[in-house]
Amino acid sequence: MRAMTYRGPYRVRVVDKPLPAIEHPRDAIVRVTRACICGSDLHLYHGLVPDTRVGQTFGHEFVGIVEEVGAQVRELRPGDRVLVPFNIACGECYFCRKGLHANCHNANPNATALGAAFGYSHTAGGYDGGQAEYVRVPYADVGPTKIPSSLDDDNALMCTDAYPTGYQAAEMAGIRRGDSVVVFGAGPIGLFAARCAWFMGAGRVLVVDEYDYRLEFARRFAQCETLNFRDVSDPVWLLKKESDWLGWDAAIDAAGCEARGSAMQRLLGVRLKLLSGAATPLHWAIDAVRKGGVVSIVGVYGPTLNAIPIGTAMNKGVTLRMGQASVKRNLSRCIEHIEAGHIDPKEIITHRIPLEDIGDGYHLFSSKLDGCIKPIIQPDGARA
Ligand SMILES: NC(=O)c1ccc[n+]([C@@H]2O[C@H](COP(=O)([O-])OP(=O)(O)OC[C@H]3O[C@@H](n4cnc5c(N)ncnc54)[C@H](O)[C@@H]3O)[C@@H](O)[C@H]2O)c1
Ligand SMILES: [Zn+2]
Ligand SMILES: [Zn+2]
Repeated sequence: MRAMTYRGPYRVRVVDKPLPAIEHPRDAIVRVTRACICGSDLHLYHGLVPDTRVGQTFGHEFVGIVEEVGAQVRELRPGDRVLVPFNIACGECYFCRKGLHANCHNANPNATALGAAFGYSHTAGGYDGGQAEYVRVPYADVGPTKIPSSLDDDNALMCTDAYPTGYQAAEMAGIRRGDSVVVFGAGPIGLFAARCAWFMGAGRVLVVDEYDYRLEFARRFAQCETLNFRDVSDPVWLLKKESDWLGWDAAIDAAGCEARGSAMQRLLGVRLKLLSGAATPLHWAIDAVRKGGVVSIVGVYGPTLNAIPIGTAMNKGVTLRMGQASVKRNLSRCIEHIEAGHIDPKEIITHRIPLEDIGDGYHLFSSKLDGCIKPIIQPDGARA
């Protein structure tokens, strides 16, 4: 089969790989019809995730058709259309039973903090991902979900990560009716978080980024206010001024460890790698929320050290909530919102790229070229 493989930082290539096979009776093999590149893949692409091995196939957001199932798979049959959440989870361990599929204790033998994900380095289990023609899906009865007829493949694809992650970001922000919410990052995750904040009763939503084209899209897609942090010398001061000077009820970090906006954080966290990433939006979030406010973090940070103003957060009595999204937990709610016509997640898709050209997709998305917000990948056989 044809599959994207990692060759080293900023280098991806499509090569022939052996077809994946059933390795365990709970596995399924899925023929991929669509996959995405995610902001999380950019951290891999930029060489920032430890133990990212040459030869791995990335891709944790994909939908497809079940090709084959192992002897113990009960819920799926060959021919089923499935959306596959990015988490690989056993469904049975202490954490899975609490709904923490992102922290499954069985699926990732390499770590105790993080669970497993498709195509996300050996720190997330070393599983190959779905930027390929076929993919092996472990614990096939747990994550994969038959796509209801109300969902087209594009919307189903958005339900594998970006939309439920944005939803969970808003949920973790503890929004109460009328609350003001500031979202850092106008990528797919921030856009969905901003949109979902309204579902939860927000009274005001503002999105911060440095790309005008993304902020313009945010105004349309999430009917929110926006701020380009390059336009002001002190974004926190402006955010305070924009509130009642006391700050925002909730702030969401949907940018993560490669954030820009602080030369010092970039130098230490991205260039010299003395810290595990630049935590600028987290700084701004902690400073911009009011005392007693909530900061919800879905932007990805790696272990171990970061420069974060924990003392400010502590003294302000800020509630910090965070995590990799456990997609399955809110999936049915997310689908209900689509069915009710509240949201059409595929609106954020800006590029459709043949699998063979996936290198161009990484480049466009990474460098924020050509108005790129969300690129999706289609293997040759799956293109209409
Ligand atoms: N928790 C999860 O389960 C989960 C799931 C998917 C993605 N993520 C993470 O969410 C983050 C966003 O993903 P994405 O797909 O939207 O990526 P993206 O790269 O498209 O978007 C990130 C956006 O943040 C902006 N940004 C950078 N620095 C900023 C700052 N200081 N203030 C405000 N905005 C800033 C960038 O300009 C960019 O538009 C990534 O870190 C990704 O790894 C987490
Ligand atoms: Zn993702
Ligand atoms: Zn588990």
